[in-house]
Amino acid sequence: MEKTFIMVKPDGVQRNLVGDIVSRFEQKGFKLAGAKLMQIPTELAEEHYGEHKDKPFFGELVDFITSGPVFAMVWEGENVISTARKMMGATNPAESDIGTIRGDYGLTVGKNVIHGSDSPESAEREIGLFFKEGGLVEYTKDA
Ligand code: CMP
Repeated sequence: MEKTFIMVKPDGVQRNLVGDIVSRFEQKGFKLAGAKLMQIPTELAEEHYGEHKDKPFFGELVDFITSGPVFAMVWEGENVISTARKMMGATNPAESDIGTIRGDYGLTVGKNVIHGSDSPESAEREIGLFFKEGGLVEYTKDA
């Protein structure tokens, strides 16, 4: 079954949005396979966002994502990667539809509340970075 990496960013944790975001994924029907509150070390942030290292906002991005705790999760289910992207809304909250997570809670592209993998390759890479061997839980979910 497909898995994706989802992270509530420091602004979302500070603004008490973890519960609502977890609830949205639960209510959609996805299965939680792993979750942890953590402070991201700079090296991990640089690796996670490696594809943006030549962008002018890279330093700001790394500073922000390491500025406070994040809530890292792995969600599992049919088409979870693309569906989670739809639930999150466009990267820039100014362009996200109302009803999406960023559309409802975000204002700026830097502090956009949530990150989610954008492809199967990214999902595999990001899950591997944040959840090492044995870090996920396998169980049967009936409903
Ligand atoms: P995310 O989905 O975590 O992936 C890369 C992040 O870069 C993105 O969300 C935005 O938060 C951030 N980002 C993109 N463009 C800018 C920008 N112009 N200034 C600051 N941050 C940006």
